[in-house]
Amino acid sequence: MPATIVLGTQWGDEGKGKFTDLLAADASMVVRFQGGHNAGHTLVVDGESFALQLVPSGVLNPETIPVIGNGVVVDPFVLLAEMKMLSDRGVDVSKVRVSGNAHLILPYHQQLDALHERHLGDAKLGTTKRGIGPAYADKSMRLGIRVQDMLDEKIFREKLHTSLSHANKILTKVFNRLPMDPDDLADKVLAECLPGIKPLIADSIDLVHSALEADQNVLFEGAQATFLDIDHGTYPFVTSSNPTAGGACTGAGIGPKHIDRIIGIAKAYVTRVGAGPFPTELFDEDGDKMVDIGREYGTNTGRRRRPGWVDAVMLRHAARLNSLTELAITKLDVLDTFDTVKICTGYMIDGEKVSVLPYHQSEIHKAEPIYLELPGWKTDLTEVKDVADLPVNAKNFLDALAEQARVPISLVSTGPGRKQFLHY
Ligand code: IMP
Repeated sequence: MPATIVLGTQWGDEGKGKFTDLLAADASMVVRFQGGHNAGHTLVVDGESFALQLVPSGVLNPETIPVIGNGVVVDPFVLLAEMKMLSDRGVDVSKVRVSGNAHLILPYHQQLDALHERHLGDAKLGTTKRGIGPAYADKSMRLGIRVQDMLDEKIFREKLHTSLSHANKILTKVFNRLPMDPDDLADKVLAECLPGIKPLIADSIDLVHSALEADQNVLFEGAQATFLDIDHGTYPFVTSSNPTAGGACTGAGIGPKHIDRIIGIAKAYVTRVGAGPFPTELFDEDGDKMVDIGREYGTNTGRRRRPGWVDAVMLRHAARLNSLTELAITKLDVLDTFDTVKICTGYMIDGEKVSVLPYHQSEIHKAEPIYLELPGWKTDLTEVKDVADLPVNAKNFLDALAEQARVPISLVSTGPGRKQFLHY
């Protein structure tokens, strides 16, 4: 530390929440920098499972200030419900802060998300239908409503009129739906959300920089992942924000020189939800085993995740895009019963061997993985407490992965629990 970014290197669901929670033990602040409640971060503490969507993973550490940064899109109803769920379960949420510059997701964004997906038919992206894309679109069109706008009723109503007059035209004229009444919606948001949200609103830039200036450890928590990045992912099968390291700078208001460590979280295999290319995707028993043992179903949506072998071509690319200083490998234990384990080291595309992720997406669709196949360790890793006790075949797998990814591995997770990890 003091400034560390934790981000996903694949297509999300790598288990970022667990390591953010772990690293938060030494951080005075954890800042979410992009995305919204499309995320689902599961933390398991003393056998109790917490599924977080919006509140930064550091919330379970009573000393840590969880900050929702300016780059996040916030559904105020969801934020308040999540805070209530946490406080009902005995978690102290009094330190949670939300940037006044974060944009709001309101019910029409969710409706538009679902309608757009239906409109796309077979070409649909498989979004989470949480309104993420329409909220970021409004932000880019300068029609967005920021959290701070709620503080001035007149401004809030005016902005809602402007934003909804645009959204209502799309709802009624394109999708043949009923319009939403801006004053009814304003009444509802101000009555049901403002009292709970008002005490959380903060100048997050000042909070973050004051902590950094005081030499405190600040953790920047990414949601989604590198290959869901709107610029660097497999467009259009991506989310609407930048989960890459640059997104931490814009979404939290810091310059790149502040960052000391950039930890890329990678699952020991890969999963993806929603549509889009996936060179190492498995349609066989190995894939079913990964899904069953790894419980690969969406935390929020319940959707079955698409499984595949870990892809070092993607990891090398993620290392370039994010300036990764290290990798943290999750869910290694899910591979415990496999006779052999595989790492994709390159692709065959139209008869040619390729070791760099092709920039032309149609080539990614055609990519056939080239695998390094290694013997499995056939040992229950969930009880391993020391790296010296790791079976040699598990070490060989990790070492080959680090060598192929060209990034050292610093942490390895061997089970869902908070204590099930090893320093590598
Ligand atoms: P959206 O972010 O809801 O617009 O969805 C766009 C794409 O990103 C879809 O393929 C989603 O399945 C995927 N996605 C969004 N959030 C997550 C996540 O937290 N984990 C994994 N995939 C996600």
